[in-house]
Amino acid sequence: MPNAGAPTYLSALFEAALKARAHAHAPYSRFPVGAAVRSASGAIYGGCNVENAAYPSGICAETAAIAAMVCAGEREIAAILVLGEGEEPLTPCGACRQRILEFSGPQTRIYCGGASGPGEALTMAELLPHAFGPGRLGRTAP
Ligand code: THU
Repeated sequence: MPNAGAPTYLSALFEAALKARAHAHAPYSRFPVGAAVRSASGAIYGGCNVENAAYPSGICAETAAIAAMVCAGEREIAAILVLGEGEEPLTPCGACRQRILEFSGPQTRIYCGGASGPGEALTMAELLPHAFGPGRLGRTAP
């Protein structure tokens, strides 16, 4: 469970990721993943991995959660929690780090969760140093 200094929304974010993970379609890897995004508005969007018989066509849980946020008209990730089933905290894959970056800022918290809870928050700079982000194209994100 979240520790004392954790933000108040963390339990809800964890519950949303758990709920999303329960719907994962992962018959090939047998590695269900859930993700939950908290947007700037405070809304929470869940996503799970959705695998495919044509393996590369599958998508990650973070991708699904971010797509749900964007589809709702939002563009700013305040926090995201990624949750596997193992004890080890599940860190986002490289491609998903890039996808998170697109909608994040220095304040964005990235929780890498596991069996024992949501884990500690990391920053985008920790997960993807020297990144190529929207700023490199003269754009301000988000
Ligand atoms: N997976 C995610 O959903 N997110 C990640 O950040 C890591 C990997 C999924 C993809 C695939 O369905 C399964 O986990 C095994 O790689």
